[in-house]
Amino acid sequence: MKNILTILLCSAFLAGGIAFAFSPGGEQIISSFGPEPSTVTFQKFNEAYTGDWQKYGQGFTNVHVSLFSRIFLLVITIIPIAFLLHFLVIGAKVFSHEGQQILFFNAFCRFIHWIVAISFTLLVITGLMIIFGKIFGGGAFVRGGRTIHIISSLVLAFSAIPMFLIWLKDMFPAPHDINWLFMMGGYLSKEKKPVPAGKFNAGQKTWFWIATVGTGVMAYTGYIIYAFQGSTDQLRIMALIHNYLGAVMVAFFIIHLYMSMFAIKGALSSMISGYKSQEEVEILHSRYKITNT
Ligand code: HEM
Repeated sequence: MKNILTILLCSAFLAGGIAFAFSPGGEQIISSFGPEPSTVTFQKFNEAYTGDWQKYGQGFTNVHVSLFSRIFLLVITIIPIAFLLHFLVIGAKVFSHEGQQILFFNAFCRFIHWIVAISFTLLVITGLMIIFGKIFGGGAFVRGGRTIHIISSLVLAFSAIPMFLIWLKDMFPAPHDINWLFMMGGYLSKEKKPVPAGKFNAGQKTWFWIATVGTGVMAYTGYIIYAFQGSTDQLRIMALIHNYLGAVMVAFFIIHLYMSMFAIKGALSSMISGYKSQEEVEILHSRYKITNT
C-alpha cells in the first residue's frame, strides 16, 4: 500500500513537472538550464514566482515613495507660502457687520460640516504621520496614527453623504461661474466690487465636488488597500490613486482653510452662527436672492 502511494505521488510530481515545462512560462525556466548563467535562471524563476513584481515593483516604489513624499512636501509648503504672500500683499476682505443678518447655514448643516471638518483634519494629520513615519520615529506613535486614520475615515465617509445631499442643489455650475473664475473671485484686488456668484461661488463649488466625490474615491481605495482586496497590481493602482488624490485634496483643503479663516474676515463665524452680513452677501454672493432674516 505504502509503495503504491509513493509511486502515485512520484507520478503526480512528474506529470506536474512535465506540464509546467511545456507550458509557456515553464519553457522559459527549463530552457535556462542550457547555456544561460544561473543568475538569469534565478531571475526567471523569481519572475514566474512573484508575477511582475520584479519588473514593476521598483518603478512603483520609486513613483510611490520618493516622488510622492516630495509632492506632498511641496503641497504643504508652497501653497501656505503663496497664501502668506497674498495675505501680506492684498490682505483680508473686511465687511461691515451692520445691517441685515442673513441665515446661510442652518444648524444641521453646520453640525455635519464640523463633523466632516474634524474627521478630515484628523485624516490629514495622521496621513502625514504615515507618509513621514520615519521622521516621527515609526513604532507605536505612527501605528496609533494609523488607527485614528482608519476610524476617522469611517466617520468622514458617513458624514460626507449628508453634506453632499444638503448642498448639492446649490453646487451645480452656472454660466456666471466662468466670469468668477476669470476674475479670480476678485481676490487679486483690494477693491470691494460685487462678484458674480450665487449662494456659492465657483471656487466653493469646486471644493464641494472635490471634497465629496474625492471622499468617496478615497474611502473605496483606502478600503481595498486596507483589506488587501485584489491582485498586487490592483493594490498598486489603488495605492497610487489614494495617495495622489489625497495630495490634491490636501491642497484644496489648505485653500479652503485660508479662504474661510484668513481671506475673508469673520467668514469662520458664519459657520458657527449660521449668519452672514448683508454687505458680504451683496459683494461676494451678488446673485443670491436674499429672502430670510
Ligand atoms: C477645520 C477645518 C475647516 C474649517 C475651519 C472650515 C470652515 C468653513 C467655513 C467658515 C465655511 C463657510 C465659508 C463661507 O461661505 O464663507 C465652510 C464651508 C464649507 N466647508 Fe469647511 N471648513 C473646514 C473643513 C472642511 C472640510 C474638511 C470640508 C470637506 C471635506 C469642508 C467642506 C466645506 C464645504 C463644501 C463648504 C461650503 C462651500 C464653501 O464655503 O467652500 N470644510 N467651511
